Amino acid sequence: MSEKHKVAILGSGNWGSTVARIVGSNVRDRTEVFDPEVRIWVYEELIGGRKLTEIINSEHENVKYLPGKELPENVIAIPDPETAIEGANILVFVLPHQFVRSLCGKLAGKIRENAFAVSLIKGVDFDEKGVILISDVISRELGVECSVLMGANIANEIADEQFSEATIGYRNREHARLLKHIFQTPYFRIAGAPDVPGVEICGALKNIVALGAGFCDGLGYGNNTKAAVIRLGLIEMIRFAKKFFKDVQSMTFLQSSGVADLITTCYGGRNRRCAEAFARSGGKKSFEELENELLNGQKLQGTLTAKEIYEILQRQNLLQEFPFFEVIYAIAYQGRSVEGFLQQLSEKELSLEGDID
Ligand SMILES: NC(=O)c1ccc[n+]([C@@H]2O[C@H](COP(=O)([O-])OP(=O)(O)OC[C@H]3O[C@@H](n4cnc5c(N)ncnc54)[C@H](O)[C@@H]3O)[C@@H](O)[C@H]2O)c1
Repeated sequence: MSEKHKVAILGSGNWGSTVARIVGSNVRDRTEVFDPEVRIWVYEELIGGRKLTEIINSEHENVKYLPGKELPENVIAIPDPETAIEGANILVFVLPHQFVRSLCGKLAGKIRENAFAVSLIKGVDFDEKGVILISDVISRELGVECSVLMGANIANEIADEQFSEATIGYRNREHARLLKHIFQTPYFRIAGAPDVPGVEICGALKNIVALGAGFCDGLGYGNNTKAAVIRLGLIEMIRFAKKFFKDVQSMTFLQSSGVADLITTCYGGRNRRCAEAFARSGGKKSFEELENELLNGQKLQGTLTAKEIYEILQRQNLLQEFPFFEVIYAIAYQGRSVEGFLQQLSEKELSLEGDID
């Protein structure tokens, strides 16, 4: 077995492929520390009759999820997840959160000794007791330590090498240091925060707020209204994080993974885009239809997260404390009108914050 660190990437969508460009290039530049081969697990599909893995390995481009961007030749697409992680001790998870458990089921017991993971996944899991972080799912299922990397990171902009920042949430500082080496570039700057739950929960919840921002755009409102949506959403993100994770640090909300990710997602990003189209259709087109129409196989995470969070809050009788999350769910899933949602929301939120009447 190689003494060098070896990276495997699990997931090859828009973000997974962007990250593969960075990681492939970084490890190739530091072969004294890293094995230069980076295997990437690709959920196999046919594109014009050809396997996506074959296209990636011959043309070095993920033509479906990151067209027009070259992948380094040391990034090798593998259709079988077990083969993809062979010999790897750094496992990068970057797939839509609904597929994590089934993937972990295939990998359990096949992990290299002393391996550790990092999750770039924005979403949550839950059980009857409440919310479960995706990093904890990975940790428990595979018996590995799991850090997280989140931030204001719209994949296509990073693939264009536009300057961005990200935050690594860690428990093990040495892991964070190695992760910084594989992810950081002059245009992608990484900071650390010893607060995994704070970093991760912001990354998941901001996708719900982005739906509110999209509704606001679809209704034709301007910048002041969007700022109100972002503020009201941020309050609820913080309230939720502090309620469910006692040790969350306030500074984490000011990291790239906090307020910056929230802002970028409310201006760009697929959740905002689909929510805008939803509002423009007067709620007549379902999110499922819009995902199929607008996203070319990419997955919408905000609506699923809105549903999961709603169910956690409902079960714990906490919906009253989270009017923003409640209203987004009701519009997306219960046919409540999107018109006037902000007035109702703002009244409820003000009464929680302390009205002056
Ligand atoms: N795209 C971004 O800008 C961005 C930025 C930061 C974080 N993220 C997060 O990264 C994660 C991955 O997103 P993405 O943008 O790379 O993916 P994506 O939405 O672009 O693509 C969907 C991926 O899911 C795969 N898939 C489809 N069905 C599957 C199945 N049954 N089992 C396993 N995989 C299946 C597809 O092959 C594809 O690779 C998400 O949690 C997302 O929130 C995305």
